[in-house]
Amino acid sequence: MKSNTEETTITESITEEEHKKLLMQQEITIVKRMSNISHKIAVMSGKGGVGKSTIAVNLAAAFALKNYQTGLMDVDLHGPDVPHMLGVEHAVLGQSPQGILPVKVRENLEVLSIEFMLPSKGSPVIWRGPKKTGAIRQFLSDVSWGKLDMLVIDNPPGTGDEPLTVLQSIQPLDGVVMVTTPQAVAGEDVRKCVNMVKGLKIPVLGIIENMSGFTCPHCQQEIDIFGKGEGKELAEELEIPYLGSLPMEIQVRENSDQGKPFIFADPQSQISQNFMEIVSEIENKLQN
Ligand SMILES: Nc1ncnc2c1ncn2[C@@H]1O[C@H](COP(=O)(O)OP(=O)(O)OP(=O)(O)O)[C@@H](O)[C@H]1O
Ligand SMILES: [Mg+2]
Repeated sequence: MKSNTEETTITESITEEEHKKLLMQQEITIVKRMSNISHKIAVMSGKGGVGKSTIAVNLAAAFALKNYQTGLMDVDLHGPDVPHMLGVEHAVLGQSPQGILPVKVRENLEVLSIEFMLPSKGSPVIWRGPKKTGAIRQFLSDVSWGKLDMLVIDNPPGTGDEPLTVLQSIQPLDGVVMVTTPQAVAGEDVRKCVNMVKGLKIPVLGIIENMSGFTCPHCQQEIDIFGKGEGKELAEELEIPYLGSLPMEIQVRENSDQGKPFIFADPQSQISQNFMEIVSEIENKLQN
């Protein structure tokens, strides 16, 4: 990150005309880079903590298991959790003549996050709107993904600068996977997010209800901590597809904390199989 003094010097040293030209060049580069990627999917939610990053990470991991060449871009600039969830939080980005190289998790899974650019773990990013938009557009123009089948983009909660920049800068975006939990307050926030996406004429691929019920590992009784079924009702109300649900499971949280997506840790588990059905639904939507 540059100091304020450095920033002022750089901004003042170019004319408005030159600045416009640079933005145009950047736009052309973004279009070129994105044309090398067959499918681009954003994971979003109006609500925080509902499992967006968990789902983005496992969606990318599932695509990789299905032999797609996959990229995962974390545009949560203030709380980048994706590197930790993949166990690559200490990795550094490479450089090539074609641009910045994302971090390789597996042969066909690469990841990019602001976390890889921070001077130390725990360094906060304190940026206002235009700076955040600029950083995401720089991700899109300067990172050399090469040819990809799938790019999954993990977003921070809400309808702020980051999701808006993703929705407006990645053309064409195949669509948005919306994550909710069954509580009424989550539904209200997700409704706003869906309306933002619809307003920009971008398809909502569907809603996933996460943290949908919990089975007690001791007595096997099912407890609906946050409720159950509201995601499906919301999908019907908003006339968007319902992709399915995932229960709350200790394993999911433990795998995340240990840096291993549950889909890699145990592909045969019930939750992985549930999730793979959701992934097949998403694949169907991409083909249409
Ligand atoms: N189905 C689940 N079962 C158990 N724990 C889960 C489940 N889904 C997510 N979690 C846990 O809940 C926490 C929040 O999940 P996550 O970070 O993916 O949410 P988020 O929506 O990305 O949050 P933020 O809005 O801060 O970006 C994490 O600790 C994660 O491991
Ligand atoms: Mg997150």
